[in-house]
Amino acid sequence: MAKATSKTYSVQSFDHLTGLEGISDAQIAEHRELYAGYVKQVNALNEALAEHRSRSKPSGTDPEFAELTRRLGFEYNGMVLHEYYFSNLRRAGDPRPAPHSALVQAVEKFWGGLDQWRTEFQAIGGMRGVGWVVLAEDPVTDRLTNHWITLHQDGFPASFKPLLVMDVWEHAFMRDYKATERAKYVEAFFRNVDWQAVERRLSEAGAMRPAA
Ligand SMILES: [Fe+2]
Repeated sequence: MAKATSKTYSVQSFDHLTGLEGISDAQIAEHRELYAGYVKQVNALNEALAEHRSRSKPSGTDPEFAELTRRLGFEYNGMVLHEYYFSNLRRAGDPRPAPHSALVQAVEKFWGGLDQWRTEFQAIGGMRGVGWVVLAEDPVTDRLTNHWITLHQDGFPASFKPLLVMDVWEHAFMRDYKATERAKYVEAFFRNVDWQAVERRLSEAGAMRPAA
């Protein structure tokens, strides 16, 4: 019988997230509850897979095995992306990263300027569908790119470092804004970015999970 892992994931509190500008405490509280659901599902799925392993031979044509496996990417990234998202927000955030910082220099290199990068990042936030916008670095080449992630799992290159992560699922803003007002939420998001957290991520050699 295969040995089941005892490691489970814990819900991180993110209780520093109060008093944001344009994103209410009630919105954040509801969002944190949704995030906790992903942590629970990751643990439950790993448990279910271990249990399945103990009684059945794995087969790609076994619908139960296939669905459990398929859902791992969705639930894991639902957990991890929320941890990045909550970790790159703070109360009374600076409106922009520090001038001449490594982040600003990197962004200027690939977009010509911070405003040009932000215009593109925000435009991606207006794409049809639910998902995420991520500024990321390829740690092999140091190239920065903006990405759209559909749902939680589709569209992000393996091994890239997420630097700035923005949730644009409706659940991220619909307590505070209408479904048609996503752009207002995106503007609010930028009033609460923790640029120092983004700088720290850039300075790390590889992707640093904010929680595990
Ligand atoms: Fe979310």
